[in-house]
Amino acid sequence: MQASNNSFFFISLNEDFSRLGKIHKMLPPPIFNNSKMTIWRIPSAEIEFFKKDTDILSLDVIRYFDCYYLLIPLTKKSIKNLYKEFFDYISHDYEHLIDINRNQENIHNLLKLAKDYINNQKRIVILDYGCGTGISQDIAKKLNMKIFGFDICPSMREIASKKGMIVWEEKDLWLQPENCIDAVISSYVFHFLIDDTYLKLLYKILKPNGIIIANFHKNKNRDFIDLSLNKIGFKIIRTQISERKEGHGTYVIYGK
Ligand SMILES: C[S@@+](CC[C@H](N)C(=O)[O-])C[C@H]1O[C@@H](n2cnc3c(N)ncnc32)[C@H](O)[C@@H]1O
Repeated sequence: MQASNNSFFFISLNEDFSRLGKIHKMLPPPIFNNSKMTIWRIPSAEIEFFKKDTDILSLDVIRYFDCYYLLIPLTKKSIKNLYKEFFDYISHDYEHLIDINRNQENIHNLLKLAKDYINNQKRIVILDYGCGTGISQDIAKKLNMKIFGFDICPSMREIASKKGMIVWEEKDLWLQPENCIDAVISSYVFHFLIDDTYLKLLYKILKPNGIIIANFHKNKNRDFIDLSLNKIGFKIIRTQISERKEGHGTYVIYGK
């Protein structure tokens, strides 16, 4: 579904309908639903009323890519499921919804930081955590780095795989041997709440001096991720603000 100036899209997991109270009854017929998620189109003229109603109910509604409003569930497991379903739904439009030059620049910065930090002669092995449509594949190739992708969303993985990227799902993360990856990069992903289970798997597959490098746009969720990684055994090695005006936020390097 392409972005539109005339309407917005409201997205909720089906399990959250009861939290919507009377808003649920006032919404128009859905434009999409499956067993987990429902999407309604709200005309732009009505969006202010809608926002007021969600404010009154203190619902945590996040605006994404300008035209999507996501009702954020209460548990971490459901939040993960919402993003999984949402990215599945928009996967084929993803590269039109983002400013692709911006993401390419960010991924390039993350990979360069990894290369400069690791600074050895061998071909560095990278995991792109939340690889999306696999934008990093060509950039890593130019930098002579070997890259694998991981994403929770099956259709994102499929698109990345069509670009020639080797893409892992959760079971592949479990199957990897210990100490096999030099660095993990994560571009525009760590602002989502990432499960400890995944962060522990990253710890397992990273080599002893391995690193995670992520950008935190507007520093969102930085405290949560810092704390979660610290509990697992990671230490913050360096932080750096991206140079670009209205940039990619803070780059944080965590060491194993
Ligand atoms: C904004 S996109 C970024 C994609 C890519 N890194 C880029 O810069 O273009 C976020 C990606 O993270 C994935 N994602 C969301 N939550 C995730 C999680 N908990 N673990 C792994 N991937 C996740 C989504 O499926 C989506 O592909």
